[in-house]
Amino acid sequence: MPPAFRLRPAAQADGAFLGDMVVEAVNWRRGGARPRHEVITGSEHSRYLAGWMRPGDAGFVAEDLHGEPVGAAWYRLLPRSDPGFGYVGTGVPELIIGVRPIWRAHGVGRALLQRLCEHARDQGFARISLSVERDNFATGLYRSEGFAVVRGGIGRDTMVKRLR
Ligand SMILES: CC(C)(COP(=O)(O)OP(=O)(O)OC[C@H]1O[C@@H](n2cnc3c(N)ncnc32)[C@H](O)[C@@H]1OP(=O)(O)O)[C@@H](O)C(=O)NCCC(=O)NCCS
Repeated sequence: MPPAFRLRPAAQADGAFLGDMVVEAVNWRRGGARPRHEVITGSEHSRYLAGWMRPGDAGFVAEDLHGEPVGAAWYRLLPRSDPGFGYVGTGVPELIIGVRPIWRAHGVGRALLQRLCEHARDQGFARISLSVERDNFATGLYRSEGFAVVRGGIGRDTMVKRLR
């Protein structure tokens, strides 16, 4: 039987854990080992975390049955002047997701993705975007959840899901 987990809304106090998940996302490749401080302070990724939670930020945390966080997915609205890798336009939130290594391939990522997209739809967003390196298996997960590639870069795709 797959291990049990539950989802709860992310809170302000989850900022450090979301930082861990950005580090997981950056280091997804086997052997990837960019140091935490470099990832979370670097301008490329700090924009996904700085000042968490700001108005408009939303996310969900997956916890094991002891209440330990094992994964998270969240979105943030980034301005045109400071776009993320997956920026497609003003008013389209960008999604970030990560699951702790020992918890991967147990359904946590899909559950987080579905819950976050439902929430974005309930908040009135028409679309949600993300950026993924093309050889990451997560591309297949995103496609199966209704995301489609809208823009390709060097080794990296921007994907968008229509929410309504
Ligand atoms: C990508 C990630 C968030 C997915 O979360 P997860 O909990 O591992 O995914 P799930 O268990 O919900 O699996 C989703 C699908 O991916 C498939 N999958 C899971 N791990 C896989 C792997 N290592 N290789 C290929 N497919 C895989 C599963 O088979 C599943 O499909 P199914 O439902 O048809 O069986 C997680 O693996 C992760 O944090 N990876 C490292 C960080 C990262 O890459 N983040 C995304 C950056 S864009």
